[in-house]
Amino acid sequence: MLGAGTQSLQAETGQAAWLRYTRLDSAASAKYSSIPRLIVRVGDSPVLASAEQELTRGLRGMLGGEFRMASSLTYGPIILIGTLDSVKTVLKDFISPINLAGDGYWFAQAKISGSTGFIITAQNDRSVLYGVFAFLSKIARAENLESLSEVQVPANSVRMVDQWDNLDGTIERGYAGASLFFENGHVREDLSRAGEYARLLASVGINSCAINNVNANPQLLEKDFLPQLRRVAETFRPWGVRLALSVDVSSPKAIGGLPTFDPLDPRVAAWWQQTVDALYAEIPDFAGFVVKADSEGRAGPAIYGRTPADAANVIARALKPHGGLLFYRSFVYDHHLDWQNPKNDRARAAYDIFHPLDDQFAENVVIQIKHGPIDFQVREPVSPLLGGLEKTNEAIELQITQEYTGQQRHLCYLVPMWKEVLDFDMRNDGQSTPVRELISGKTYHRPYGGLVGVANVGMDANWLAHPLAMANLYGFGRLAWDPALSAQTITEEWTRLTFGNDATTVNTIDAMLLSSWNIYESYTGPLGAGTLTDIVGSHYGPGVESSERNGWGQWHRADHAGIGMDRTVATGTGYVAQYSPAIAKQYESLETTPDELLLFFHHVPYSYKLHSGKTVIQHIYDSHYDGASRAAALVTQWQSLKGRVDQARYEDVLRRLEYQAGHAIVWRDAICNWFARTSGIPDERGRVGHYPGRVEAEDMELHGYVVFDVTPWEAASGGKGIECPSPAESCTATFLFTGAPGRYDIDVRYFDQSNGTSRFRVYLRDQLIAEWSAGDHLPASAPNADSSTRYRIRGITLKPGDALRIEGRPDGPERAALDYVEFTPATP
Ligand code: GCU
Repeated sequence: MLGAGTQSLQAETGQAAWLRYTRLDSAASAKYSSIPRLIVRVGDSPVLASAEQELTRGLRGMLGGEFRMASSLTYGPIILIGTLDSVKTVLKDFISPINLAGDGYWFAQAKISGSTGFIITAQNDRSVLYGVFAFLSKIARAENLESLSEVQVPANSVRMVDQWDNLDGTIERGYAGASLFFENGHVREDLSRAGEYARLLASVGINSCAINNVNANPQLLEKDFLPQLRRVAETFRPWGVRLALSVDVSSPKAIGGLPTFDPLDPRVAAWWQQTVDALYAEIPDFAGFVVKADSEGRAGPAIYGRTPADAANVIARALKPHGGLLFYRSFVYDHHLDWQNPKNDRARAAYDIFHPLDDQFAENVVIQIKHGPIDFQVREPVSPLLGGLEKTNEAIELQITQEYTGQQRHLCYLVPMWKEVLDFDMRNDGQSTPVRELISGKTYHRPYGGLVGVANVGMDANWLAHPLAMANLYGFGRLAWDPALSAQTITEEWTRLTFGNDATTVNTIDAMLLSSWNIYESYTGPLGAGTLTDIVGSHYGPGVESSERNGWGQWHRADHAGIGMDRTVATGTGYVAQYSPAIAKQYESLETTPDELLLFFHHVPYSYKLHSGKTVIQHIYDSHYDGASRAAALVTQWQSLKGRVDQARYEDVLRRLEYQAGHAIVWRDAICNWFARTSGIPDERGRVGHYPGRVEAEDMELHGYVVFDVTPWEAASGGKGIECPSPAESCTATFLFTGAPGRYDIDVRYFDQSNGTSRFRVYLRDQLIAEWSAGDHLPASAPNADSSTRYRIRGITLKPGDALRIEGRPDGPERAALDYVEFTPATP
C-alpha cells in the first residue's frame, strides 16, 4: 500500500520544508540511473559554492551513492554548472539559448566532451543556484530528464519577503516562535536558522529579505548596529539573498540629532546620504529600505505638509548611487476616521493619496501596495491603486503569515486567492491589463516591480507552525517567479516535495489545500463584508461589532435592517470610481457585482436575493454551516493518510485540524447568532439557536462555579459561561444526561487562555473518563472567542439519567471557564 517508501515515514520536524531530498523509491530512481556522478563547477564564488554543494547534497540524498566534485572538465559524463561566461571558457562551441535574460537559468541534457551529461547555466551566479534548485526539484518530483532543455526567466525583478521582526526577538503578527534574526535588542549570535531560511528562499527564487518590522525601530540605523546587520547580510549572501531593512522616516531626528525630519530640509537629505553610505560601506549588496509612514501612528511627511513622494525621494536619492531601492508602502490611512460620516471610506485612501503623485517618484522608488484596499481580509477586491500608477514602479504586498486567515491554527492556503488577484484584469484604457503585468512593469515599461510577501517565519522547527502553512511560503515564491503558474501546478509541486510522490497522498493534500481558503471564508466573513474578526485586537476569532463605531474604518455597517458598505458613485463613498470605467461599471451595479464581493460595494437589506437565488441572511446561515462541516471533513480527509505520512507530521496536522474543526463551530455559531439576533430573521432550516445535543454550562448544577457574561456575547453559546472564581482551588458543574441511550462523542467547550493552565476532569457516574490541561497558547488572556476551544471525549456509552460531573481547577487568571457540553453520536 505504501508507495512512498519507508524512509519517508521516519519522523520529520518540517525543518527541511520542501528541500527534504529523501531517497527516491526504486522505480523513480531507476529513471536517473544514468545521471552523471561527477559535478564540475566552473567559476568561483560563495553562491556558486552553494550551488555545487546543494547539487551534491540533493543528488546524494535522493539517489544515494557518491557524487564527486571537480573544477575542470574530465572525460566521462558530468553535470556542468557555471555562468554562461565561464561555461564558454571551457566549451568553445557553446551556444546559449537566446531567450535567457536577467535572473533566468537554462538547464539541458547535452553532449559534453563526447558524453551525455547536463549543463546548468545562467547569466549570474545567483541564477545558476536557481537552476540547481529547479533541477533537484524535478528529480524529487520524479520528472523525466530525458531530452531536457528548459529556460526559466522570472517575470519579476522584485521577489522579496518582509519579516516583521522586533529587536527584542518578538515578531509582529508572527505565529511560529521567536525571531531568526534578533534577541534581546541585538542580532542573534547564532544565525544558522537565518542561513537556512535564505537557502529556502533562494530555492524558490526569492532574492531579498527585509528583516525587521515595518513599524521600524530607528536604532537599527545607528552606527554601532551596522556590524551586526553586516553579519546577517553575510549569512544571506551565499544564497543570493540581499538584505533589506524597514526604516522610520523620523530617523534623522530620532537618532540623527537633527531638529527635523522634513524631507525637503537639506540637512535631512545629507543625513540620509551619510547614513546610506555608511550602510553600503558595510554591506555593498544591500537591497534597500521599506517605509511605512503616516500610517497607524507612524511618523510621516504629513506633519511638515510634505507628500509621500517627498519622503520617498529624499531616501531614494541616497540609495541611488549604490543601486538600492526604496519601497514606500501605500498602506497610508487615517485611523481616526469619523465613522458617522457615510462618505468616509478607508478603502479610498491609498488611491486618493498616491494616484495624484504618479509622476513624482524617483526612478528607484517602488510603491508597495497591499493586494486589497483594506488589510489582508479573507476577501477583498483588488486594490485600485494597482491599476492607478503608470509612471511609478509598483510591487504587490501579499501576506504569507495568516494574520486574518486563521494564524496558522486554521488551514488556509492562499495561493488560489493570490492567483485571483494576479490574474484580475484591471482593463486600463479598455485593454487587457492583468495585475501580474502591471506589477512586473510590463504594462507601462517600468524598470522594477514584482511581489513582496510578509512571511514572519519564526524559530519553530517547521518555520510557520502549521506543517501545511509552508505551502503558502512556497507558493508565494513560485508566483513571484512566475505569476502565470496555476494554483494546481504550484500545489502539486509543493505537496510532492514536502510529502513525497505517493498519488493518494498528493491528491488528498492538494484537494485539502485548494479547498481551504473557500472553507475558511465560508465560516468567517461572508460576501466581502470583511473577516468579521476582532478588528481592534487579535484579528483571530469572531468579533462582529469590533469593526464598527470606531475610526479604524473596517466597517461593514451591519444593523437590524441590512449590511454592507455603499461604495458606489451614485449613493455611496465613490470608491468605485477609482477603477477603470469597465470595472467601475461592473461594481457600481448591484446586478453585476459578484456575490462574493457584494457587501464590499453595496449596502443591502438582509432579504436581498443573491445571484445564487438565496437571500443574504440565508446565505450567511448556510455558508457558515457548510464551512464548519467542511472544516470537520478536513479531519477525515487527513485521517485517510494515516500510515502514508510520517507519524510526527501526521499527528501535528491532525491536532491542528481537529482544533480548527472545533473553532469553526465557534465561528459558525457566533456569526449566525449575531445576525439572527440583529436581523430578527430566523434560519429557514431551523439550525441557528437550536442545539439539540448541547447542555449549557450555566444550566448545570454548580458548586463553586459562577455564571458570567462573555464579551462579545456571540463568542459563547447563550452569551454566558461559568468560571471558578478566585480564590477557589476547584469548582464543579454537574448535570444528568437526558438523550437517547447510545455511544456518544462528548465535546467539552472550554476557554484556554494564554495566561494559565487550568485542569479539567470529567466523571461519569463518579468514574473518571477524561482529564486534560488547558495548556495551549491561544491569542487571548480572557475567556472569549479566541480562547474558546474544545476537548473531545470519544465513544462513551450513555443512558438517560447518567450523571456527569466536570471538575475545573483554575490557574492564576485562567479560571477554568466552561461554555457547554455537546453530545453527538460517536464517530467510528
Ligand atoms: C496590519 C497589522 C499590523 C501591521 C500593519 C501594516 O494592520 O495588523 O500589525 O503593522 O498591517 O501592514 O503596516
